[in-house]
Amino acid sequence: MNFSSDNVTGAHPAIVEALAKAAAAGPMPPYGADPISERLNARLAEIFEHEVAVFPVATGTAANALSLSALVPPWGGILATDEAHVEVDECGAVEAMSGARIQIVPGVEGKLTPEALAARIAPIRLGDQHHVQPAAVSLTQATEAGTVYTPREVAAIGAFAKERGLRVHMDGARFGNAVAGLGCAPAEITWKAGVDVLSFGATKNGALAEEAVVFFDTALAANFLYRRKRAGHLVSKMRFLSAQLDAYLADDLWLKNAAHANEMATRLALGLIDLPGVELDHPVDANEIFVRLPPGIADGLKAGGFHFYDWGAPPADPARDATLYRLVTAFDTAEASVDAFIACAAKAADSAADASPAAESA
Ligand SMILES: Cc1ncc(COP(=O)(O)O)c(C=O)c1O
Repeated sequence: MNFSSDNVTGAHPAIVEALAKAAAAGPMPPYGADPISERLNARLAEIFEHEVAVFPVATGTAANALSLSALVPPWGGILATDEAHVEVDECGAVEAMSGARIQIVPGVEGKLTPEALAARIAPIRLGDQHHVQPAAVSLTQATEAGTVYTPREVAAIGAFAKERGLRVHMDGARFGNAVAGLGCAPAEITWKAGVDVLSFGATKNGALAEEAVVFFDTALAANFLYRRKRAGHLVSKMRFLSAQLDAYLADDLWLKNAAHANEMATRLALGLIDLPGVELDHPVDANEIFVRLPPGIADGLKAGGFHFYDWGAPPADPARDATLYRLVTAFDTAEASVDAFIACAAKAADSAADASPAAESA
């Protein structure tokens, strides 16, 4: 009944079980010197088909801020969309940890494009000591608009970045949802497309609290141990973060969880779209739906006990007379909850139609 976010969920039983097993295993060396942590590099290298340097941290904000701090100098600029989590929802953590500044670029369906990046950079005097110097691009996969960059779109940004001497970071808080949605190899939307470092999310997709910074250019990770410790993100009982990631990756749990969440989002969107006055703002490529609901439907759903976020003010354009809402599905969203949501919305739409002046005068 709760469609407000993929972090209102619990945790997947296999991950909880892995934690219990790690706890029962007795003493283990701290600070990542345990056998569970030590096998993560090899495991992720296999999944990404590339050498990697992996650093577990507890939050997505830390993963983003720390990884970006390893890519840019304090006088650098980080190009990201106006909706990017690093810009909107991290309380300036990226700026605090890197010293750099986020340079906002208008997103198209939540995505950066080489054209938009070029336009943003054009007025900046490169090499001028008075100007912040663009140093990295940060893209979010899946995006904050619920869309997904195709391998070709990431590669176009990667090529642009390379040409301009920019590093590339990917905020993959919903990376599993993107890979499951695209059905591609993880390599296709990361290092093969020019991504230097990935914030690989697990929390939203079945873990309790676990994100990993994954470097594809391992030279960039040379001092990362110190950055992580200095930021207070070297967890002493690291094995418990690592056990979550280990279980998340085992038997493709991360992809199965994400595929289920995506499937539930598609089912929900398809069930809503034909109701009167309902409109999607973006394609539903992953597990988030941005939908305009007329007041009758939104109120009916809220009265029916469904939870979801109001995503901003009603539109100024009276032709689109419906407020934007965000609905998020997750690894544990039950098909029955989705169907109940759709049925409640349909019932509310019928009631609203019966109460309309046209129906009264008929
Ligand atoms: C796109 C994106 N990046 C990163 C995060 C990680 O945030 P947190 O620091 O809350 O784990 C989130 C969580 O909402 C997110 O949606």
